[in-house]
Amino acid sequence: MNSMYIVANWKMNGDQIFNSHLITTIEKNSVINDASHMIICPSMPYLQQINTQKPSYMILGAQNISQYDNGAYTGEISAPMYSSVGVNHIVIGHSERREYFAESDALLAEKVNAVLANNSTPIFCCGEPLAIREAETQNAFVENQLINSLFHLSSEQLLKVVIAYEPIWAIGTGKTASSAQAQEIHAFIRSVLAIKYGADIADQISILYGGSVKAANAVELFSQPDVDGGLVGGASLIATEFTAIINALQ
Ligand code: PGA
Repeated sequence: MNSMYIVANWKMNGDQIFNSHLITTIEKNSVINDASHMIICPSMPYLQQINTQKPSYMILGAQNISQYDNGAYTGEISAPMYSSVGVNHIVIGHSERREYFAESDALLAEKVNAVLANNSTPIFCCGEPLAIREAETQNAFVENQLINSLFHLSSEQLLKVVIAYEPIWAIGTGKTASSAQAQEIHAFIRSVLAIKYGADIADQISILYGGSVKAANAVELFSQPDVDGGLVGGASLIATEFTAIINALQ
């Protein structure tokens, strides 16, 4: 069985007062408080703040990581460093990292390795830009991302990876993939994993949907058989929206 997750990707937003209010309000209104389904990824300076304030059922996550463990890499943060402040879930290969920071599939494979070597969980993002979707070649595009950054892993390693499918044309645009479009490509991703690793392994991988998830579409998206939760950007900064998204897991 795979697990359902909601990942809040706060991106480069928030400050101490805003964060504190957001966490308190989510905690007050969320009906899910007995299991670890909620991963909060604040900006790095606020990891300690959230770690101290969050209830135990919220998991602390990070938005990016270095492929190295330590050394002369100014401005970078490693998997062991994150672990030391309570962060064991790390988003890798978000489309904004791929696009604005030129992160390649090969680099992302190294980052996945660094996270796994530290016994942490990579949340690996994949997804196509609009031109690829319009050309109807999204399946091949996403398959290549998986092959290039994940398919060197053993079955045992892959089982520790969470995948987030995020169509770039739906991120921060207000456009969401329809639940049918999401289900179709999630099922495709699972089939690609099944061909390489077997159906038994593929069925255990959580595949999250990201791209303008909001309260109004969460129930329908999460009710698709191959959609195992969501990676939420903009709506994760609005307490009422995010709580409704969390509660949609019920
Ligand atoms: P969005 O962002 O929910 O604002 O579209 C999703 C993401 O970038 O992970």
